[in-house]
Amino acid sequence: MATTTAATVLLLCAFVVLAPASTTTAAAADDGGFTTFKLYFHDIVGGTSPTAIRIAQAPSSNSSSTFFGAVVAIDDPLTTAPARSSGDEVGRAQGTYTFADRKTFGLLMAMNFVFTAGEHNGSSLAILGRNQVLDDVREMSIVGGSGKFRMARGYVQAHTVDSGATSGETVVQYTVNVKA
Ligand SMILES: *[C@@H]1O[C@H](CO)[C@@H](O)[C@H](O)[C@H]1NC(C)=O
Ligand SMILES: *[C@@H]1O[C@H](CO)[C@@H](O)[C@H](O)[C@H]1NC(C)=O
Repeated sequence: MATTTAATVLLLCAFVVLAPASTTTAAAADDGGFTTFKLYFHDIVGGTSPTAIRIAQAPSSNSSSTFFGAVVAIDDPLTTAPARSSGDEVGRAQGTYTFADRKTFGLLMAMNFVFTAGEHNGSSLAILGRNQVLDDVREMSIVGGSGKFRMARGYVQAHTVDSGATSGETVVQYTVNVKA
């Protein structure tokens, strides 16, 4: 009887210790714990109310073929569909990008994705990375966040949908992969 009780206790302990571990393993096996979603970033440099404005530059920036040294402040709409309409705006991309490469269009992006509607409303993601804009896909780091994204880490992949050459509005698809 004593042996049976001891065995039962041992089994229970083993279950309690193992159960959470196996749950974690199962989740990790599914998707690595990442939440993935797509956003469309609208960088509006033309028109009467631009959302991207040049705030600083070096005397030599204008003569640089890559605008090296120029810094742009952004408050760019983020929408759930490629076409911009107020109905599907879920947040803003706020921060700066710096033309940081003398040889090619290589930007340093330092921005927050600030969610103001939708399922992430009230939370934000901090994004930092190199954006070589002529590449098909550019990967940047998610270095943190707030709200439901507190302590977030992950990465985004940017892909230009419309260069904005004629419209003055560049549209970039951002695929967000985040763990928080
Ligand atoms: C660079 O070009 C911009 C736009 O054409 C102009 O407003 C600015 O004065 C120029 N800056 C310099 C330092 O030449
Ligand atoms: C987003 O959250 C704020 C603060 O909780 C709330 O006031 C606002 O109505 C929400 N907006 C949408 C579109 O859900």
